[in-house]
Amino acid sequence: MTYRSLVGFLLLVSALLLAGCDSNESPTLPPEEEEPPPSDTTGTGDPPSDTLRVLADERGIEFGTAVAADPLMTNDTYAEVLAREFNAVTPENAMKWSPLRPSRDEFTFADADSIVAFAARHDMSVRGHTLVWHRQLPNWLTEGDWSREELITILETHIQTVINHYEEEYPGQITKWDVVNEAIVDGGGRRNNIWQETIGDEYVAIAFRAAEEATDSDAKLYYNDYGIAGGGSKADGVYEMVSGLVENDVPIDGVGFQSHLSTQYGAPSDQVLADEMGRYEELGLNVAITELDVRIPLGDDGEPSEEQLSQQADYYTRFLNNCLFAENCTEFRAWGFTDAYSWVPDEFDGEGAALIFDENYEPKPAYDALIETLKN
Ligand code: G3I
Repeated sequence: MTYRSLVGFLLLVSALLLAGCDSNESPTLPPEEEEPPPSDTTGTGDPPSDTLRVLADERGIEFGTAVAADPLMTNDTYAEVLAREFNAVTPENAMKWSPLRPSRDEFTFADADSIVAFAARHDMSVRGHTLVWHRQLPNWLTEGDWSREELITILETHIQTVINHYEEEYPGQITKWDVVNEAIVDGGGRRNNIWQETIGDEYVAIAFRAAEEATDSDAKLYYNDYGIAGGGSKADGVYEMVSGLVENDVPIDGVGFQSHLSTQYGAPSDQVLADEMGRYEELGLNVAITELDVRIPLGDDGEPSEEQLSQQADYYTRFLNNCLFAENCTEFRAWGFTDAYSWVPDEFDGEGAALIFDENYEPKPAYDALIETLKN
């Protein structure tokens, strides 16, 4: 309990006690001592009032967002809002194979380092994303004719080199790794990707073991996927795979629920979401909301309606509430924070407005709803 909340609590208790007294004078409680505002996290000299970050820090929850390297380095408003509102970041693309590894023997860390260095300057934790995936792979890898042993060596070398780089250059900054991303398809079976086809099922365990071997820190190792918050065949397939990892003593610490939603398709109920998170708690694993966004099918004017924005706010707060409620969830991350930089319009024709600030960095109803949720 922070000092601020302790003061509030004591004032509340004293008010309740005084209210019960037989007195015809309504007690006038001293105004709550205003703590000095938290240290400036925006770098603008203006101490923030209640922001998502201030409230999340008070509740001890990691409240983060995906970050694109380019606007971070070129857009002051993007950087300022990021530092003001979030205490955690995930590199959106910079730490994937293709940006990191233009050739087998060359690693280009500059863009990813710019994100991690920013996080270090602003006391933000970093989620390393992602050590093994089927997308954004470089041509030298996908066009190679690798034996199983060669590909295992390439995979293990990648994981060790990337983790070692960050533990040497930015010790303690990366507190979680998305070790394997999206290994399961909608029907619940394994995704046919280069790793699965050449190495077989074992590639997932090999990746986690390589990450465990490489890390000297307490960084937590996660499996990350989409479409698993609402139950169903994919959620069961992920659970079955992860259960097998746990049974085989594979070093896995948690499961990331990406949570890419659309107002068109609804969102899981609180009960279903709680059940899906809860079954991983029974395995002794953490869960995290890792990539939440709520895309909206836009009208001809390209703008969301008030009703859609209200629905979006409901979905954001539902996932936050369920994370706050779940014993094994301490991390809530959106997949971007301003509609000026979102993957959605490029990926989903006619949809957009998925994030909590609009393209002019003005807070949307979802932002206000998240603030209220963290306050209460
Ligand atoms: O950097 C190249 C640029 O050099 C080139 O000119 C341009 C045009 O081809 O492409 C640029 O790369 C794009 C990259 O984003 C950086 O902007 C890729 O084409 C594009 O496919 C890539 O999309 C990303 C997508 O993952 C695929 O990697 C999205 O921005 C990113 O938001 C999205 O994020 C994923 C998570 O990593 C995993 N979970 C799902 C989530 C959404 O797909």
